[in-house]
Amino acid sequence: MAENDITKSAVPTGYAFWTSGKPKQPNEINWKYHLRKLLTVKKFSDLENDQEKSGLKRSLNAVDLTMIGIGAIIGTGIFVLTGQAAATKAGPAIVVSFIISGIAASFAALSYSEMASMIPIAGSAYTYSYATMGELIAWIIGWDLILEYAVSAAAVAIGWSEYFVSFFQDAFGVELNPSWTSAPLKFTTKTQSFELVEGAYFNLLAFLIVIILTAILTIGIKESARVNAVIVAYKVFVVILFIIIGAIYVNPQNYQPFVPPNTTGRWDDFGVSGIFSAATTVFFAYIGFDAVSTTAQECRNPQRDMPLGIIGSLVICSVLYIAVCLVLTGIVPYQQLNTGAPIAVATSKIGMKWLSIAIDLGALAGLTSVILCMLMGQPRIFYSMANDGLFPAVAAKIHPRFQTPYVTIMITGFFVAVLAAIFPIAVLAEMTSVGTLFAFFLVHIGVMILRIKAPEIPRQFKAPGGTYFVPIVGALLTVLLLATATKPSIERLFGWMAIGLLIYAFYGRRNSKLARRAADLEFNDGNKEDPNDIKEPIEKPIP
Ligand code: ALA
Repeated sequence: MAENDITKSAVPTGYAFWTSGKPKQPNEINWKYHLRKLLTVKKFSDLENDQEKSGLKRSLNAVDLTMIGIGAIIGTGIFVLTGQAAATKAGPAIVVSFIISGIAASFAALSYSEMASMIPIAGSAYTYSYATMGELIAWIIGWDLILEYAVSAAAVAIGWSEYFVSFFQDAFGVELNPSWTSAPLKFTTKTQSFELVEGAYFNLLAFLIVIILTAILTIGIKESARVNAVIVAYKVFVVILFIIIGAIYVNPQNYQPFVPPNTTGRWDDFGVSGIFSAATTVFFAYIGFDAVSTTAQECRNPQRDMPLGIIGSLVICSVLYIAVCLVLTGIVPYQQLNTGAPIAVATSKIGMKWLSIAIDLGALAGLTSVILCMLMGQPRIFYSMANDGLFPAVAAKIHPRFQTPYVTIMITGFFVAVLAAIFPIAVLAEMTSVGTLFAFFLVHIGVMILRIKAPEIPRQFKAPGGTYFVPIVGALLTVLLLATATKPSIERLFGWMAIGLLIYAFYGRRNSKLARRAADLEFNDGNKEDPNDIKEPIEKPIP
């Protein structure tokens, strides 16, 4: 295929050499050799070999991809976090927070699209960075994405449970027992620690939805593009319905004060700093556009349509989000929005029961597809990393009958279900935002490095504004939002990264298939041996 030919010859020899898995050269000093090993890139031809021979038809166009993107994006961020962030951090100015994080997400989408369009195969930031920035950065991004997918799935599951409770209330007037539908732990800002919530035991609903979806993924029933399109259409329909009907009931008094003053001096407690802090929280609402890139092998023209799908879905969601924020804070005084299902609260306020039920159902269907998407993405990353030798091979084990990486799906599912059952949504959502911002920061830097180091690689999509504009402004925006995140979230990210780097140092680096291949070559070349290298033959690729 013409496209693949381009990518195979895309990396110039010089570039491939300084990051290749070439054996130790006779005159090469030790530290240079080890640095080069950390920067080993995976060749595009290897990536293509790794692609499963799926036999999928290339049938998706830019509109389908946009629908997939919207399916993964609209979820707990808008249905739940908007209200909580408005009530506790920004007031009606939450709309400004959404604009700020929307701009940061758009810059990330531009860099992400450029990287995705260089490599027209199904993948994620992990795959792309392995082929472009080398193994160490790929590991960091992959490890970070594990956090993003797993923790966000848990946060969205909690949002799902909130709307399930709201649906029972609106449709049947039944109040489900809060002891089994809410988190037993809460985070107290004052003491900076988790405390037990009296009378709450376990969020059974959030736990069960994750377990059910994990079972579905294990046996390999995929949500088809058509089912996805129906869910997305319904989800967008209820959001637009809310905006149009809600706009009639807006009371401009509720916008006063638009920026509630910061009276405690705490960084995230209203005022201008509160707006930024809320922007980091609601960045969560934009996460998911990268789901588009996982469908590359089913696209008719991936290099053109993927950027269109990524950017198109993001633009549509941004417009909807801004409108929802204006209507929501216009109907309900922001102080009353600290609830699990704020949009349902707004519709009850205007007294339209049918609209509340329609929105509850839209949220439930929409959130289900977001959880599915996240639960599907996480094992794929695990699987790719295990396939590259960076995790034990058992993580890439394929079920003989269902043909799914069932070990990772089940481990992930259980872990996510427990997180969803015991932690509060705000903590998980902010952790996801912080982790994702960090991954996007690395993607921006990677795009810039590649533009300087390897300008020859064809890019079907190039972020506008020259070599530096998008990557630098985008990276600065991610740093700005990271800087406004709460300290515990940053500490958790550092903790997670430290664990990841230890695993890489003691396992991944020594078992990486690329490194082992290089060592094998060295051994066969009769060059001087390096005692750090592992000399067993490379395992057969996992089917
Ligand atoms: N953007 C997704 C959501 O808001 C993760 O649920």
